[in-house]
Order: sequence, then C-alpha cells, then structure tokens
Amino acid sequence: MSGPDLRRAAAARALDLVEPGMRLGLGTGSTAAAFVALLGERVRGGLDIVGVPTSEATRVQAEGLGIRLATLDTMPELDLTIDGADEVDDQLRLIKGGGAALLREKIVACASRRMVVIADAAKRVSRLGAFPLPIEVNPFGLTATHRAVEAAVAAAGCAGEVRLRRHADGKPLVTDGGHHILDAHLGAIPDPETLGAALWSVPGVVEHGLFIGIADAAILAAARDGQAEVT
Ligand code: A5P
Repeated sequence: MSGPDLRRAAAARALDLVEPGMRLGLGTGSTAAAFVALLGERVRGGLDIVGVPTSEATRVQAEGLGIRLATLDTMPELDLTIDGADEVDDQLRLIKGGGAALLREKIVACASRRMVVIADAAKRVSRLGAFPLPIEVNPFGLTATHRAVEAAVAAAGCAGEVRLRRHADGKPLVTDGGHHILDAHLGAIPDPETLGAALWSVPGVVEHGLFIGIADAAILAAARDGQAEVT
C-alpha cells in the first residue's frame, strides 16, 4: 500500500461528507488534489456543489475538472473545507504550508463552518515541529523580518534555524499572494499557542502555518494487512 493509495483512501472517505448544494473549500497539496479529482468525477455524474480553491494550482485543477468555482468575495461563508496537513497532533492542531498555500488555506478554512483534514496517518504526531513550520512574510524588509522571526521563535522557547524557502535555482519562492516563506526548522514546538502569538507580534509576518482551533476532524489512512484503514 503506497502513499498515493492512502491519500486516495482518506480523500474517498471525505467525499462521503459532501452533500448536494454544499459550498466547499478546496485544499492544496497531493491529498487535497486526490479529493478534488474524486469530486470532479462526482460533479461529472451530476453532483451540484460550488468550490473555493485555496491556491492557483487547485483552481486550475478544479476548473479542468468542470467544478463550479466561486471566491470568498461572492461566497464568504462555506459549509465545509477539505484539506491536507503536514502534521496533525491529538488536539487537531496542525502544521500546514508545505505547499506554500497556508495563507489562502487558513482564510478559507476559517470561512468554513467545518474543516476536515485528510492525510496519510504518518502525518499524525504526538508533538508538532518535526516538519519545518512555514511562515509567510511580506517581501518588504525581508532581512529585518527574518531576524525578528528568529527572535520570536527563541522567545517562544523553540530552538532551531529559520530559512528562506528557495527554488532549486536559488530564487526565493513567491506565494500566490506575492509573499515569501520562512521555514522554521525547530524539531519540536513545546507550546504552539505561544509560538503562534509570538509570530503574530512580528510586523511583516502575514500568516503562519500553525492551525490551532480550526480543524474539526481528521480522516487518516494507514496501511493494515495490505488494505487502507481509514479512521
Ligand atoms: C499546502 O500548503 C499544505 O498545507 C498542504 O496541505 C500540506 O503540505 C499537505 O500536502 P500533502 O497532501 O501533499 O502531503
């Protein structure tokens, strides 16, 4: 049983939550893409829903599948958002943003009555932080913001390095919103709420990838006896 099989199994279970007429937030990343692909099949079969994508990549995928799309400007309240995660702890606190879409993902999730995470069960952790925490920052004053983020991370009791995310050619990654990403390689985050608040206090930080009190449920798929077990 491979990672794609597990992601598809979690995505398929999430499809059971979709009802006709729903306004859906569509996440970003490979697991969310598996969900959007399955949703597209249902739409082709006649299901009537409207989606709000959390990234340009998801918008392009959903458009290609004939899924009707809207924005939060015309449809500011959503019924359900289905999205992946980089880490999930037992309090449903998440790290997101490995795909650099954390800003739109958080805006869309917070505009939804429910947010359900879909993931390979390997994303479940007892403590957040092994995955580098993405922090989206405004390009203006980048070096100063970078230093202030390092100070905020240390003040929140975390140790580690904060690195600007770059493409293979060395150019800084630019998000859909025109920002950069600083990845905080911390190993462990002893107090996610404190770190989130510390990051918020830094001018230039647009959003951080700690999703706390946002997810309502997680659908996790693990391999068991050659089958996907979804919980
Ligand atoms: C996108 O910015 C992320 O938040 C993704 O949701 C997260 O990285 C999970 O991606 P995968 O489903 O590809 O693991």
